[in-house]
Amino acid sequence: MSRLEELRNRIESRDARIGVIGLGYVGLPLAIEFAKAGFKVTGLDIDDEKVRSLEAGVSYIEDMPNEAVVAEKDAGRFHATSDFGELARLDVLNICVPTPLTRTKDPDVSHMAKAVEEIRRRLRSGQLIVLGSTTYPGTTHDLFVPMLEESGLRVGEDFSLAFSPERIDPGNKKFKVSQIPKVVGGETPRCTELAVAVFSTIFDEVVPVSSSQSAEMVKLLENTFRAINIGLANEVALMCGRLGLDVWEVIEAAATKPYGFMKFLPGPGLGGHCIPVDPSYLSWKMKSLNFSARFIDLATDINGHMPEHVADRVSELLNGDRLAVNGANILILGVAYKKDVGDMRESPALDVIELLAQKGAAVTFHDPHVREFTVEGTIYKNTDLTDEAIGAADLVVILTDHSDIDYERLVASAHRVFDTRNATAAVNENREKITKL
Ligand SMILES: NC(=O)c1ccc[n+]([C@@H]2O[C@H](COP(=O)([O-])OP(=O)(O)OC[C@H]3O[C@@H](n4cnc5c(N)ncnc54)[C@H](O)[C@@H]3O)[C@@H](O)[C@H]2O)c1
Repeated sequence: MSRLEELRNRIESRDARIGVIGLGYVGLPLAIEFAKAGFKVTGLDIDDEKVRSLEAGVSYIEDMPNEAVVAEKDAGRFHATSDFGELARLDVLNICVPTPLTRTKDPDVSHMAKAVEEIRRRLRSGQLIVLGSTTYPGTTHDLFVPMLEESGLRVGEDFSLAFSPERIDPGNKKFKVSQIPKVVGGETPRCTELAVAVFSTIFDEVVPVSSSQSAEMVKLLENTFRAINIGLANEVALMCGRLGLDVWEVIEAAATKPYGFMKFLPGPGLGGHCIPVDPSYLSWKMKSLNFSARFIDLATDINGHMPEHVADRVSELLNGDRLAVNGANILILGVAYKKDVGDMRESPALDVIELLAQKGAAVTFHDPHVREFTVEGTIYKNTDLTDEAIGAADLVVILTDHSDIDYERLVASAHRVFDTRNATAAVNENREKITKL
């Protein structure tokens, strides 16, 4: 029996040892899911603080309760470490490290390369490696196959390699990890088969595709689709503004069509680690093939200008009441990039706040999920959402539509409210105080 066939049997019997490299929003839930399925799982991270926290049974991911970590640790099925020496004895290695952009907006695959290098140094026959970090088509095949084969081992013969994109949606209470179909594309059909076998133990449905490049492209299509449709919703919001129409009324009514329409909503701009970043991975790759990704460029331009549009509207609004942004007290409600999470990565609130501060506004914020953050060297600390704090603001700007806010009370206490998310849709009283995006 070959080492790879042996691994297949060990996956079926749950004897395979699973490794997850990168224990963030993606890696930690994946690791715990494998542990719940009965595997022994090692989580590896370069961040000692995260490792210490998990070893103490404390989760730093909002969707992941401490109890889930503690249960798997107590059962001896999960532990976290920053000792990469452990890689040698693991059978399946999932890579879930960040893939950000560089300052010049090019793909930064250096974290992935470092993780792959750690694996290469200890690669042994029979291991399966699965890349899960979002990246451009060809990364697995063109970059990492040659790197791993420097070990002298051959992909598909000695070790297996596949790409399987992550689809986790932090804060989404509707779908459990296991309910989101998992796409898998291996370097060879046997690599795909093994990766399907391992993911079938935790996902209800696994969708094999013909290559790692195809699997990489699937993820970029999904997130480019979102970025472009949000760009369209944002442009429709700008059009409705000129036409004197309520964009949310228009979109909600269009969404009653039972086919051929999918609802996307406008807002103050894109945020998070995925939607503002992933399309740039695709357009960068296409540029190298002398192809201009025009839809992506257009959506990036429209979405990227939304914070500026919000800041301009704030100026207009205050101006209408003979007030200047300079010196105005502006209370920002919600700074996370989306509702009901505390994730501030790429949040448009950071840009809006910077623009308003540059114009001389005294900016404060409230967000039930964020304690403090820094913009351009200024530390902003969470303000309690008391009636006094609301009343002290010349303007309240809603940038994130968190659920656990009493919007009725907010509007009642505020002088004026600028709502970029339609968070105040259900507010009945004092509607004259509300201006929408
Ligand atoms: N967050 C999401 O909602 C989401 C959804 C789908 C896909 N993704 C993709 O998944 C990947 C991971 O994203 P995330 O949100 O989990 O990132 P994250 O920043 O939350 O976590 C990444 C973790 O990797 C660790 N790390 C960095 N370099 C490492 C290395 N060389 N070795 C070991 N650990 C290392 C970091 O310390 C961090 O804990 C990215 O490619 C992202 O685009 C994210």
